Amino acid sequence: MGHARFHGHQDMYTNSPDNRYGSLAAEIYDIDKPFGKLPDTAFYRDALKGLDGPILEPACGSGRTLVPLAEAGHEMWGFDTSAEMLAQAEPRCAKAGVRARLSQQGWSDFTYDQRFSAIILPVASFTLIEDADTAFGVLARFYAALSPGGLLLIDLTPLSTLAPVEDDRRSWVAENGDLLTLHAVRTGTDWTKQAFRLSVRYERWRENRLVAAELEPMVMRQWGIEEFRMALERAGFTDARCHGDYKRGEPPEAGTHMVTWEARKPA
Ligand SMILES: C[S@@+](CC[C@H](N)C(=O)[O-])C[C@H]1O[C@@H](n2cnc3c(N)ncnc32)[C@H](O)[C@@H]1O
Repeated sequence: MGHARFHGHQDMYTNSPDNRYGSLAAEIYDIDKPFGKLPDTAFYRDALKGLDGPILEPACGSGRTLVPLAEAGHEMWGFDTSAEMLAQAEPRCAKAGVRARLSQQGWSDFTYDQRFSAIILPVASFTLIEDADTAFGVLARFYAALSPGGLLLIDLTPLSTLAPVEDDRRSWVAENGDLLTLHAVRTGTDWTKQAFRLSVRYERWRENRLVAAELEPMVMRQWGIEEFRMALERAGFTDARCHGDYKRGEPPEAGTHMVTWEARKPA
């Protein structure tokens, strides 16, 4: 994925893979997004209530969403490219006493021998797909992987996310007393591609010494409401509708932070 296309100041991380979610990122992800506590978990639990059959969560990460859905009685399948995120998911399933079928795959080439009753992508993981053509291909893959009548649920951050932001600096104290820090810098925005780049620096400090650091270059593509509706229709989905900020039935508004799309593969 070339970086030169991006305007804004150049950074020096062009050779690293994007959106990797390495070990410090995975550890901080679970502290920053506490298990079961964010509003998306309840929204997805309600939206999937009563649904029969297997559910696939592409980019399932550390199981933050997948485990509560398995606890609610669903047959959960998940894949993710990050071995570090999956390594957090496995013990989490064991601790919760649930079984989930997890594998290390990517959304452009995942394969299964079966179809799913639902496919879900919470917390805007879909925006990690940098370009529109790849995203269209991934939607077609989701369509093929669903049973007739199957449900697709996808969260997207709104177009307003493309506006410039201040650096994001945060810190946490880990259970063992280590200080964990995050410093995210917007390194470029390409309005024509509706995407921005971030460089996220994660650090671990112990007794005032830096013991580990990781750079995570990230890229996120933002979608317009009507653009995504057309993308869903083009992939064959019907009955597309969206909800704002995890309030079911309430359409997004100007100040909405998250848009959740719901669509069906025709029966
Ligand atoms: C924002 S996290 C979401 C994790 C989880 N779905 C949740 O609800 O907490 C995004 C995830 O996307 C994964 N990811 C990034 N690129 C991917 C790809 N090409 N295929 C599959 N997963 C990918 C990352 O490893 C990370 O776990």
